[in-house]
Amino acid sequence: MVTKVLMVCLGNICRSPLAEGLLQSKVDPQKVWVDSAGTAGYHVGNRPDERSVAVAQKYGLDIGYQRSRKLNAKDLETFDIIYAMDKSNYSDIVALAKNEAEIKKVGLLLEETELGVKEVPDPYYGGEDGFEQVYRFIDQACEAIAQRLQNDQ
Ligand code: 4NP
Repeated sequence: MVTKVLMVCLGNICRSPLAEGLLQSKVDPQKVWVDSAGTAGYHVGNRPDERSVAVAQKYGLDIGYQRSRKLNAKDLETFDIIYAMDKSNYSDIVALAKNEAEIKKVGLLLEETELGVKEVPDPYYGGEDGFEQVYRFIDQACEAIAQRLQNDQ
């Protein structure tokens, strides 16, 4: 069975495209399907933010092919695990849930790590440094998730 994982942030152009690309790069595509979406529709159809594309490129990861899309209620049926980048994303995702089972699918991405930080900071209004830190946080979480999924399968 394929496990379907959805990464969610606000705009689906900065953080969740990195999370999609990073997790995808660490799992067997036959066993794990990864996608991303935003709770807001501001950037639907757009490429990821150039700063996310650049930091990914620096580490040898191409995310430039991705396009932003808006999260919808059907996503909570389709996906098995849904990761929110921050608490505000978490509330917006859970607001679309139709039952307890759907709520249980949703978690904070950084709770998969020992970082002691719960939220991936929104780097949109910051500089390049923010993207580097965001990349490192997301990379650690995706490493932990990939290992856990491998052990579960
Ligand atoms: P993201 O970052 O949620 O990580 O994609 C943002 C992207 C766009 C906006 C805010 C955050 N915005 O306000 O347009």
